[in-house]
Amino acid sequence: MQPSNKKATLSFSDGSPSVDLPVYKGTLGPDVVDIRALYHDAHVFMYDPGFLSTAACQSSITFIDGEKGRLLYRGYPIEQLAKTCDFMDICYLILNGDLPDAKQKAAFDSLVTHHTMVNEQMHVFLRGFRRDAHPMAILTGLVGALSAFYHDSTDITNPRHREVSAIRLIAKMPTLVAMAYKHSIGEPYIYPKNDLSYTGNFLRMMFATPCEDYQVNDVVERALDRIFVLHADHEQNASTSTVRLCGSSGTNPFAAIAAGVACLWGPAHGGANEACLHMLEQIQARGGVDKLGEFIKQVKDKSSGVRLMGFGHRVYKNYDPRAKLMQQTCKEVLAALGLENDPLFKLAMALEHIALEDPYFIDRKLYPNVDFYSGIVQRAIGIPRSLFTAIFALARTVGWIAQWNEMLSDPEYKIGRPRQLYMGHAVRDVKR
Ligand code: ACO
Repeated sequence: MQPSNKKATLSFSDGSPSVDLPVYKGTLGPDVVDIRALYHDAHVFMYDPGFLSTAACQSSITFIDGEKGRLLYRGYPIEQLAKTCDFMDICYLILNGDLPDAKQKAAFDSLVTHHTMVNEQMHVFLRGFRRDAHPMAILTGLVGALSAFYHDSTDITNPRHREVSAIRLIAKMPTLVAMAYKHSIGEPYIYPKNDLSYTGNFLRMMFATPCEDYQVNDVVERALDRIFVLHADHEQNASTSTVRLCGSSGTNPFAAIAAGVACLWGPAHGGANEACLHMLEQIQARGGVDKLGEFIKQVKDKSSGVRLMGFGHRVYKNYDPRAKLMQQTCKEVLAALGLENDPLFKLAMALEHIALEDPYFIDRKLYPNVDFYSGIVQRAIGIPRSLFTAIFALARTVGWIAQWNEMLSDPEYKIGRPRQLYMGHAVRDVKR
């Protein structure tokens, strides 16, 4: 990282000496002012709750242009990737920096496929959870517990260990999510089957029973694979930053990814697809399209605490490109499954139409995000609402692990340790 010719100068109104700060240029995106020496040189901190203007790392994996509604994985536009690649291509790309050729792809597929089983003891561990536990509660536990089963790949200073952990996590995540589902419905776990694709295998582990053959439906497989592709990485979002911060202490990768799973669970992040479908179902139950005006009024009333779930994004101030692709997939899946008249899809389209013409949403640049349509697709293919965020976690695992690995390979990497503006008591004596 080389400073550009430009520098920034921070001056103070109280006559304290001003400070010159180096400015870096990225390949794309805004310049970045390096404030690392600020505390040393001027004895001040920067205040930025929510990281609105703070770059916490350098990264070469994903780039978002929020104003233009553009998303790139390793430089490739998401629209091109979604049309020409499957999720295994994307995993390879995100982990290794470029798309695989046919030979590399076959080897990668085989490597992932041969790591999909989990230690049999995990079944015993899973049995300790209540049947009605939320799948994200189970998944957080299961992913964290992997570190108790795979000791041989937790030396984070060893690149080979990091590589093995990455493959293990990507490969085992579908098995764990499907196990969490089977546990919740009281059905036997289905073991992975090596002649199926990554996504086909996941569908089988979810929906097959030992009693009869299960045939993977091509349309459903393609749609779910696209969901995985669209959720694979999204630069420094809350869960990825959590993985980086957690991993910065030197903890093992399974523990760091479990922290990411926990963060993703929240309704402002990965939990939004579940919350969005819940919102649509509630509007539908109250009268559907006819009640949309009333609902929008509630959303615009800040005191109601109601948000239009699946709308708005910290970075996108334009249409989320993933939402466009998801809407397309949604139409394809509903048509292929004979659900064109799905009332929730119609409701979502009507809601989107109203919101996109309403000055409240226009002024705040609030557009549909990926979660607006992904819930409808998942519902159509038979995935229960409570599992949506776990599916997101499955797909995002490759992004988390690639970002964690990138952090550990960065010579400038340090343990994450934010500072604070202390507003509590000054020193006082205990009076007893
Ligand atoms: N519905 C109604 N109003 C909204 C919404 C929404 N979904 N999102 C933002 N706003 C309003 C805010 O009230 C605020 O209005 P104000 O300026 O009058 O106070 C303004 O738009 C800016 O919103 P912030 O909350 O400051 O924006 P922030 O960047 O912090 O939040 C977030 C982004 C959390 C995604 C927000 O848009 C939201 O809660 N959306 C709904 C949840 C959701 O869909 N999350 C998924 C995100 S994508 C993902 O994780 C895959």
